[in-house]
Amino acid sequence: MKIVCVVGTRPDTIKMAPVIKKLQDDGRFIVKVLASAQHREMLDIVLRDFDITPDYDLNVMRKLQSLEDLSARLLKKIGKVIREESPDIVIVQGDTTTSFISALSAFYHKVPVAHLEAGLRTNDKYAPFPEEINRRLITHIADLHFAPTEKARDNLLREGIEKEKIFVTGNTVIDALEIALQKPCQLPVKPKGRFIILTIHRRENWGEPIERVARAIRRLLTEFPDLEVIFPMHKNPIVRNAVKPLLRVERAYLLEPLPFIPFAHLMQNSYFILTDSGGIQEEASYIGKPVLILREVTERPEVIEAGCGLLVGTDEERIIEECRKLLLYPEQYQRMAKKVKIFGDGKASERVHQVLLSYFGLRKEGVEEFKPQC
Ligand code: UD1
Ligand code: UDP
Repeated sequence: MKIVCVVGTRPDTIKMAPVIKKLQDDGRFIVKVLASAQHREMLDIVLRDFDITPDYDLNVMRKLQSLEDLSARLLKKIGKVIREESPDIVIVQGDTTTSFISALSAFYHKVPVAHLEAGLRTNDKYAPFPEEINRRLITHIADLHFAPTEKARDNLLREGIEKEKIFVTGNTVIDALEIALQKPCQLPVKPKGRFIILTIHRRENWGEPIERVARAIRRLLTEFPDLEVIFPMHKNPIVRNAVKPLLRVERAYLLEPLPFIPFAHLMQNSYFILTDSGGIQEEASYIGKPVLILREVTERPEVIEAGCGLLVGTDEERIIEECRKLLLYPEQYQRMAKKVKIFGDGKASERVHQVLLSYFGLRKEGVEEFKPQC
């Protein structure tokens, strides 16, 4: 059986990596890794982290690429590979433009599609933009849906997806995180005391919202002289240019994107996390770090319901207020610093492997689905 696994950006590669490894270890599959390189440097970092060498590297990234140009370049180049390889299935992850265009291309060639991290929804077409629509479109192309949680499965059922095609696996990001945390690693910076991690990159936050977040951080650093902030900046110049002038202050470390392994260790050593990232919301609850989510809505309501995360948006005063609570009141902090397995248990990639074996008639037993542990 020939399987094409498509990756392109940092998060989809981190989440696809454990699946690629599992499938490569099974001699019954021919696994081809197709890297669109929608991200260049950030993709290469993850490929090195997991020791993955793509069979194809389409090198599509352009500085400040628009969604239209990116999509058009992807469709032609991915189409060519799918046509030539003629795989038995294409696996895509999440909601990036690479993933959506790959699903579309596979559909044009009548190749079945499996979707990792299926069923996440905010029900707001423009948040996150364009990811909410990317993932909805993938859903209606896909033949197999690997939903990370029960809620994700329910979303798919509500949209009319047949229940036999949905498998609750947990999110493969937890598999990746476990791999990373098992590897010993020096911290890339040596903070003296309590430090928080900041990441921000979403389109909804470009411009004023990012600036408000940066100003909130500046004020917190003044108010708390023992506090340090570590911000591995996304490579997007729109993000970097907005933040750099505002955060050139003492105890704010503006870093290049970190490899996943040191970043995972850094998260584990942090006090709490401020982020608009999807993946980091999932990881924070697994390692028991409170996460303040710099968005108005999340497609990961489980993190809020479990009490590990809070939607704080990008209002300067609100961010300061919520950070203060965590910094000043240990009981508030402890309430959120809970290690819970709500997004995965590290076995998602094995479940994906088993479902694919069943799909190809190579396995008869059922697959035990992921159950959250709070
Ligand atoms: C993309 C995904 C988003 C995901 C995010 C993870 C889409 C539409 N968006 O958003 O879902 O959460 O990745 O980070 O698929 N750049 C570099 N080097 C890199 C990466 C990016 O220089 O390694 C710069 C380039 O100028 C590029 C720009 O960042 O044009 C934007 O990259 P793009 O992939 O279009 O969007 P992201 O905002 O990164
Ligand atoms: N991450 C990383 N290095 C960094 C920052 C983040 O490896 O410097 C990891 C993080 O642990 C998570 C993923 O990148 O697994 C999140 O990627 P991103 O925020 O770019 O995308 P999103 O999750 O929002 O789609």
